[in-house]
Amino acid sequence: MSEIVIERIKEIFKQHFDEPAFIVRSPGRINLIGEHLDYNLGFVLPAAIDKAIYVAIKKRSDNEINLVAGDLEETFHATVDSLQYTEINWPNYILGVADQIMKMGFTITGFDAVVMGDVPLGAGLSSSAAVECATAFALNTLFDLGLNKKQMVQLAQKSENEFVGLQCGIMDMFASMFGKKEQVIQLDCRSLEYAYMPFDTKGISIVLFDTGVKHSLASSEYNTRRQECEAGVAIIQKKYPEVKSLRDADLTMVNECLANGDTNVFKRCTYIVEEIKRLQNGCVDLQNHNLPAFGQKMFATHDGLSKLYEVSCPEADALVDMVRNNDSVLGARMMGGGFGGCTINIIQKEKVETLVDEVAAKYHQQFDLVLKTYVVTIEDGTSLV
Ligand code: GLA
Repeated sequence: MSEIVIERIKEIFKQHFDEPAFIVRSPGRINLIGEHLDYNLGFVLPAAIDKAIYVAIKKRSDNEINLVAGDLEETFHATVDSLQYTEINWPNYILGVADQIMKMGFTITGFDAVVMGDVPLGAGLSSSAAVECATAFALNTLFDLGLNKKQMVQLAQKSENEFVGLQCGIMDMFASMFGKKEQVIQLDCRSLEYAYMPFDTKGISIVLFDTGVKHSLASSEYNTRRQECEAGVAIIQKKYPEVKSLRDADLTMVNECLANGDTNVFKRCTYIVEEIKRLQNGCVDLQNHNLPAFGQKMFATHDGLSKLYEVSCPEADALVDMVRNNDSVLGARMMGGGFGGCTINIIQKEKVETLVDEVAAKYHQQFDLVLKTYVVTIEDGTSLV
C-alpha cells in the first residue's frame, strides 16, 4: 500500500469536505498471456499489481455527488437523479458505477469522494477498471448493498460497456478485485470459475516498458475487433452450430469456414484460436516451472497480436524486438488492449538495470521518447485500507 497516497488523499478530502468514512484501494493489473481472449470467452492469466487507485468517500444526506480527482486537481459535481456521461472523462468511471447500481434497483443518496492513485494513466494497466472496482466496493460498503465480489466485478464491467461505451471484457475488473499476492489468476471467462496459480519471481523481475503513446484508434478498433470475432463465429456456426464463441472453435474450423472470406475476420479468428491453445500450454509450462518455455509463448503472442490481430504499434513492436534475442529476457510482449501502453517483460533480476538503460537509450534514439519503466510486484486485490 502506498502510505504517501493514503496520507495525501486524507489531506485532500479534508480540504474539500471533512473526514472520509473510509478509503478503498483497488489495484491496476498485468496479464501474463491470453490477450483479447476475455470477450471471446477463453481464459486469461492476469494479476493485480502494487500500483493502485484509492477512493476516499463519505455519505451525504442529500442527492449531491461531489467528486475530486486528486492527481488532476479537478472537481466535478452531479446529482444522483441526473447521472450523465461527461466529456471530462474521469468522472464517468465513478458515475457509471453509481448509475449501474441504481439500475440494479438499489436506492442510494449522494456522496463526497476523492479519487487518486499511482497507477500510471493511459499505460494500459487498467487504471479505469481500478477506479470502477474501487467505486463499486466503496458504494457497496457505504450503502450496505450486500453485493459479493463477483457481482461487483460484473457491474463494473457493465458500467464500462454501457456508460463509458467500451465493449471491454471482464479481465481487468476481475484482476483488480480478485488479485492475490504472488499469485496469477487463471480465469475462465465463460464460467467465471477461477484458480490461483503461484508465480515464482525468485530470480526474475516483471518489468513494464511504457511506450508513452496511446494511439487514438484504441477504443474504436477495440470494438471493431470484437465485432470481427463475432462475425467469424456467425459464419462458423452455420456449419458447426455448437460453436457459440471462439472458445468452442479450433484451427480446422477457422481454416475451413473463414479462409476464403474476409481477410481480417480470418486473421483475427486465427489469432484468438491460437492464443487460447497457447495459454493452455503456457499454464502447463508454469506448472512445470519452465519459465523459458512460457517466455517463448509470450513472444509468439506478441507476433500474433502484431501481425494477425493488428493491435500493436511501431513503438511496442520495437520494444519487443529490442529484447527478443537477449539472453537475460525470458519473454516479452505488448500487453492489454493495444495501440500503445506497455510491454511486459520477464527479465533476470540481476540484469534489469543494465537492460533498462540499454533499451531506454535505443528507444530514445529511435522515437525521440523517454522510456518509463516500472518493476511491478503481484499484490492483493480490492480492499478497505
Ligand atoms: C483491455 C480490455 C480487456 C481485455 C484486454 C485485452 O484491457 O479492457 O477486457 O480485452 O484489453 O486482453
